[in-house]
Amino acid sequence: MLPSQRHLFDIPDDVAWLNCAYMAPLMRPVCDAGERGIQRKRRPWLITSRDFFTESERIRSLFAALVNANADDIAIIPSASYGAAVAARNLPLHAGQRVLVLDEQFPSNVYAWKEACLAAGSDLLTVRQPADGDWTDAILQALDERVAVAALPQCRWTDGGLLDLERISSACRNYGAALVLDLTQSLGAMPFDVTGLRPDFVISACYKWLLGPYSLGFLYAAANHQRGEPLEYNWIARAGSEDFSGLVAYRDDYQPGARRFDMGERANFHLLPMGIAAVEQILKWGIPRIAETLASRNREIANRASALGLRCLDEKRRAGHLLGLRFPAGIPSGLPESLAKRKVFVSARGDAVRVTPHVYNTDEDVDRLFAALEALM
Ligand SMILES: Cc1ncc(COP(=O)(O)O)c(C=O)c1O
Repeated sequence: MLPSQRHLFDIPDDVAWLNCAYMAPLMRPVCDAGERGIQRKRRPWLITSRDFFTESERIRSLFAALVNANADDIAIIPSASYGAAVAARNLPLHAGQRVLVLDEQFPSNVYAWKEACLAAGSDLLTVRQPADGDWTDAILQALDERVAVAALPQCRWTDGGLLDLERISSACRNYGAALVLDLTQSLGAMPFDVTGLRPDFVISACYKWLLGPYSLGFLYAAANHQRGEPLEYNWIARAGSEDFSGLVAYRDDYQPGARRFDMGERANFHLLPMGIAAVEQILKWGIPRIAETLASRNREIANRASALGLRCLDEKRRAGHLLGLRFPAGIPSGLPESLAKRKVFVSARGDAVRVTPHVYNTDEDVDRLFAALEALM
């Protein structure tokens, strides 16, 4: 297990930031990388045309390493919603077919499908909260040959409800349904591997469990989608864009692999170095080790919460890093705000108080959470 890594962050001792699922604090080396990027932009004569490619390729490889893919399979995007829009644009959908999502799924992986359904005359099929908390079973029961796309997370963003993606991806293949995964609330904190699951598209924002900057994310596209249609028709995604003097010799062919889906101005001179520094650190710690550390922290929080009469999903039904605490009579009014006044930060999402620590948290942070909860309940 990892000892607390707070020394890498700029979090005062009296702040208990238990809210990584909302937004991760940036590590000092990540901020330094961003500042160096801004300094470079002060002196553009020091930026070469090669710089538009080297950092993009570096971060592409790092993103690929997170999901055990190749750099060719990765596009650089600004947000999860952008990735969902790319997927929706490239997966066929016909009248009478369905797109499967979860109840209270994060909107970035819902709206694009609502629009696609509207355009195609298909239906959004929402899997309701199962009474026994078994989302996998509920999804498997809802899947049939009418489902063209299953657009899902690895765990629910409100309470950590866990999906068994192995069983779900295998059922999707049996029914011929495409699988699109939004890993924004799990990647970096839970192991994930595209080779076994064979999803069609995977998307993730960077600013939560990847500890990276806002407005940067990535899209994995399976090889059979890499000749698809991008959202934008930006110049750098076209073949031969390395030759700046020849850009008006317009070309119809693209850079190889998923690069055609890159966002415009992807070679951002401060965001990419920040993303690189963040993902390098995640890979250095190792995702299994992060997952084990956060699961152990949350196990302790769940046990202490249970002594106060709060409930959470059973450990085998929830992701280790994301805990949703439920109160017997609902969330007391104004609880997150009252906790924040005591410098304890969590989120209220749906009917749960979401507690999401990371490696910067300490035992003292947990004590502060419970001292505040006890005083307020
Ligand atoms: C599951 C999930 N996906 C995506 C996002 C962010 O979406 P976007 O990058 O489109 O702003 C969030 C933010 O809370 C989220 O919880």
